[in-house]
Amino acid sequence: MFKYSMHAAVIATAMMFAQSAIAQDAAPMPQQSAAMAASALRDPALKPVFDEFGGKPGLVALMNDFMDNLMADTRTRPYFADSDREHIKVELVDQFCVILDGPCTYSGKDMEKVHRSLGINRAAFNALVEDLQKAMDKNDIPFRAQNKLLAKLAPMHKVVITK
Ligand code: HEM
Repeated sequence: MFKYSMHAAVIATAMMFAQSAIAQDAAPMPQQSAAMAASALRDPALKPVFDEFGGKPGLVALMNDFMDNLMADTRTRPYFADSDREHIKVELVDQFCVILDGPCTYSGKDMEKVHRSLGINRAAFNALVEDLQKAMDKNDIPFRAQNKLLAKLAPMHKVVITK
């Protein structure tokens, strides 16, 4: 329980930071921030974290559990029920692999475009993060490594949440 509220704090802080950055200067999003939200930015500092995730095989195992959780969760299942879940898992592996500076290329769709018409709200976003946390726990990903990844994903709420 404590662990999940710590995670929630990381996500909430990252989201607040991202929002206040927008609120403070009414100018368009800085280039880097826009790119982060749009897909995935490689962060060479996260290479050790890539290893803590078990490299690419670790990410494949993680995504299997993550998708199982998303389908078992009544809050997220409706979004994924009619989608090509095997394809999404492949794209997620590549996306997370790139973020963690692994030897991969993300050739999936732009985050804004792929989620635009899905009508995702904050509750659904938080539910997905929770399902990811559970999968990371099951795969024995160290807590600090989990938070490093979550901090990179959090800014994507700006383009994923549309209502
Ligand atoms: C940081 C959060 C998220 C990340 C990093 C993420 C990442 C991705 C990726 C990589 C894809 C595959 C893109 C492709 O097909 O090329 C995808 C597709 C999809 N995502 Fe997300 N996603 C996030 C949040 C969410 C949330 C909160 C939901 C719904 C609760 C969601 C629902 C979907 C669905 C339904 C698809 C398939 C859409 C289609 O095939 O047309 N995603 N996402």
